[in-house]
Amino acid sequence: MSSELAIRVERVSKAFPVYDKPMHRLYQMLSPRAAKQRWYREFHALQNIDITVRKGETLGVVGRNGSGKSTLLQIICGTLEPSAGTVQVSGRIAALLELGAGFNPEFTGRENVMLYGTVLGLSRSQVEERFDEIAAFAEIGEFIDQPVKCYSSGMYVRLAFAVAINVTPDILVVDEALSVGDEAFQRKCFARINRIRDDGATVLFVSHSAGIVTQLCDRAVLLDRGELLSSGSPKFVVSRYHKMLYVPPDRAEAVRAAIRAEREDDALPASTELSSLSVVDREDARLVSSVSAPSALLEDSGSRGWFDEGLVPKSTVRYDTRGARIGVPHIETPEGRKVNVLHAGDTYLYVYRVDFHDSATEVRFGMLIKTLTGLELGGGATALPQNSMPLVEAGQTVEVRFRFRCLLDAGTYFLNAGVLACLAGEETYIDRLIDAAMFRVMSQPERLATGFIDFCITSYATVLGPSEVHA
Ligand SMILES: Nc1ncnc2c1ncn2[C@@H]1O[C@H](COP(=O)(O)OP(=O)(O)OP(=O)(O)O)[C@@H](O)[C@H]1O
Ligand SMILES: [Mg+2]
Repeated sequence: MSSELAIRVERVSKAFPVYDKPMHRLYQMLSPRAAKQRWYREFHALQNIDITVRKGETLGVVGRNGSGKSTLLQIICGTLEPSAGTVQVSGRIAALLELGAGFNPEFTGRENVMLYGTVLGLSRSQVEERFDEIAAFAEIGEFIDQPVKCYSSGMYVRLAFAVAINVTPDILVVDEALSVGDEAFQRKCFARINRIRDDGATVLFVSHSAGIVTQLCDRAVLLDRGELLSSGSPKFVVSRYHKMLYVPPDRAEAVRAAIRAEREDDALPASTELSSLSVVDREDARLVSSVSAPSALLEDSGSRGWFDEGLVPKSTVRYDTRGARIGVPHIETPEGRKVNVLHAGDTYLYVYRVDFHDSATEVRFGMLIKTLTGLELGGGATALPQNSMPLVEAGQTVEVRFRFRCLLDAGTYFLNAGVLACLAGEETYIDRLIDAAMFRVMSQPERLATGFIDFCITSYATVLGPSEVHA
């Protein structure tokens, strides 16, 4: 991350006129400029906000509904004028603001792409060059030549997102929009955001999801009633955000004052810790497990689940193959039934085949399970390095089966697959598929576990008798 600044917001305030009656708006419009009487009250959506964002930093903006997040992003993007204060932005800024901002509803998707692309600083020919990629990313098919007012909200956001991330922005601003669209599209967007970040872009991200903010962001700020109440590491800020979310109204002012007083230093936490949480396509697959005997793979039976043809990842990336090729990655029940909608607690097999075009030595195979945002939950390998397969000959195919218990909460998850071998004396991936397959875990209302992983926690709560009253 650079020490240079990408965004500097200084003493920014925004007041909106609020009219008690619709007629008052008209009276105000008709009254002479010099008139003393005002027909509106001022509502302060932002008050004296100071924020700096460094180049390459990902900043999360959290806060309750109406706290001023979208107003702030619009001011940073220049689509709204502040009432006071200044905003300085360095570099090309691409924004994905709340629905309604950005596109002209009367124009077709194609026309809006051209318009938006040129607004973002590309020449017409540059937009034309990227047009096919943008249209392909948006997945809206023939609708690209229809006016965007006919689009569903999902199509609208997909197209806006496709443009915003294909103009190679220096600063990407995303306001909640990713909650629209299916999980495969969301995963594709998160993978792309991570790539944009890895390329050194600055990202500003509004989300109500504490998990997404802690996974994606280097730092976060908390807005409350237009005030910048807290800033610091995502974990620190998100915990203050939760305090504000659940505070009873009569305690709100006291809690606000306490949060104000304990403002964390703006210094960033160690970047190594952050990147391990947020970068999706990292090199190591955390190869940790030992060899599994084939018989042990088949001992469970009766796993539930079914196959949904629509669950196909759109974010699959294959690394350069070096003599081996992974194919047909999928999940099976122990009885061999192909499934991708799983039942929490049941046992499944993650299976893929590897065709070896060249002979390979010291071969082992890996897997990794990730969340929608790319958080690596856990993985495994067929062997430790010293127990790898000594030789696989050219022309041979190996089938790899990983048995796992689905100890996951309801949600959508993604799988990696990788083949390691010894090349020129070093262990190297000879094929690797990121987001090779995806699966969904069905919700089970009777489950007590919270978070992504089910630790099979058992609990006891015992009434001990009358409690002692403390003065
Ligand atoms: N054009 C406007 N005129 C009057 N008030 C406005 C206008 N735009 C926003 N506001 C008010 O300013 C406050 C901040 O709105 P903003 O949209 O920035 O909140 P937000 O934090 O993005 O909320 P949400 O989480 O619901 O998206 C709200 O009380 C809103 O009603
Ligand atoms: Mg908003």
